[in-house]
Amino acid sequence: MREGAALAALIAIDGPVASGKTAVGLRLARELGYGLVDTGMLYRAVTWLALERGVDMADAEALIALAQEADIRLGQPTSDHAATLSIGGRDVTRELRKPAVDKNVSLVSRIPGVRQAMVGIQRRLAAEGKIIMLGRDIGTVVLPDAPVKVFLDASVEVRARRRHQELAEAGVSVTIEEIRADLEQRDEMDRNRHASPLHPADDAILIDTSELTLEEVVERVRQAAGVRA
Ligand code: DC
Repeated sequence: MREGAALAALIAIDGPVASGKTAVGLRLARELGYGLVDTGMLYRAVTWLALERGVDMADAEALIALAQEADIRLGQPTSDHAATLSIGGRDVTRELRKPAVDKNVSLVSRIPGVRQAMVGIQRRLAAEGKIIMLGRDIGTVVLPDAPVKVFLDASVEVRARRRHQELAEAGVSVTIEEIRADLEQRDEMDRNRHASPLHPADDAILIDTSELTLEEVVERVRQAAGVRA
């Protein structure tokens, strides 16, 4: 985008687990005064609700009904979350990163009817404008006309190390090997699922963040969006 051109109203950032989307999104949203929508939270919310209600993860019909009926709302960003999230008025933000949700979210997010319901919510939020949206299929499916599309990636070693550090800081003790196995399994499911698999849009800017600092990644996304520091 030319210098001085209007800042794009929609910035799509896709990428695999722990590629740095949330850290980059939080930084940019704060700098630009944009809203931030982390779409992974929506799939996590449906997964949490299904676990809470004891819905069988193999029962696609029941999961779709849940996704269609759930009153899911995003609130304001916090220091480490893109937003708070409530279901039926109850704040469940802290529930969404629990291991049971991690373990089951790929089973829920692969169901086309669940995705359809979540994409509806995402497009309504995007219509408000000045939004940075994070996910797996934002540039390809949710907002194919977004003027700025970025795809972040990093080696599995780097992503496992980053996630390990994050968890250690949060007081969660788990080995790098366990984290790496979980990342590889989730990558595999996200990339190979039938409905909206993870892959960069043809017109996305690819950024390998393995050797870059957060500031360097933010700077590249800023450049892609036509913004100067
Ligand atoms: O980004 P995350 O780890 O919070 O995402 C949780 C899961 O949701 C992940 O396994 C992939 C899925 N997801 C998706 O299928 N499409 C999106 N746009 C965002 C997340």
